[in-house]
Amino acid sequence: MRFFLDSANMEEITRAWEMGVISGVTTNPSLVAKEGAEFHPLLRQIAEIVDGPISAEVIALDYEGMLSEARALAEIDPKIVVKIPMTVEGLRAVKTLAEEEIPTNVTLVFTPIQALLAARAGATYVSPFLGRLDDIGEVGLKLLEDICQIFAVHALDCRVIAASIRNPVHVLEAAKIGADYATVPFSVLKQLSSHPLTAAGIEKFLADWKKVPGR
Ligand code: E4P
Repeated sequence: MRFFLDSANMEEITRAWEMGVISGVTTNPSLVAKEGAEFHPLLRQIAEIVDGPISAEVIALDYEGMLSEARALAEIDPKIVVKIPMTVEGLRAVKTLAEEEIPTNVTLVFTPIQALLAARAGATYVSPFLGRLDDIGEVGLKLLEDICQIFAVHALDCRVIAASIRNPVHVLEAAKIGADYATVPFSVLKQLSSHPLTAAGIEKFLADWKKVPGR
């Protein structure tokens, strides 16, 4: 499993990229809105730092509108992956964009069959949202398991991104299930890299080092 950073914040993106663990970035309208920056220039800035897929979402809900936004986004940089919401119009747009060789990430996927439809329409990636299902008392990881099973059984050429990740357990289980990617907020990325025994171990080594003569 590879990692994407789920963020539109340049400081987080730069720090995560420099850590060497992320393969790309996913954004969404809410994450972009938090930054108070214009969308296209922000994507250009991200593309200067990140050498990997950068998901950017369309706002239009109609087929023509989605296509025109998607084409404009794809013009920004070849690394842009167009995020399309999981709707009938969205599937139509995914099919056309696949024919134009513009990569897509079908977002807001909440059932295994939505994921299957997206893959059949020609999506490059699908993003099942684990945390938002957990929030309403369902089991997000079960959705991920079902999607990975269906994609394996039918040898579908579509990558699965475990999205709406809330904690390290989501990440561990997503890796075991076989998700191709997990897109994680920066806060979770930091949690993943730390452990109290690592911190205590460093402290003890430094304390002991002070006793080494002539150090
Ligand atoms: C995925 O691409 C989405 O941007 C994201 O994972 C949504 O997460 P949230 O449910 O925490 O907003």
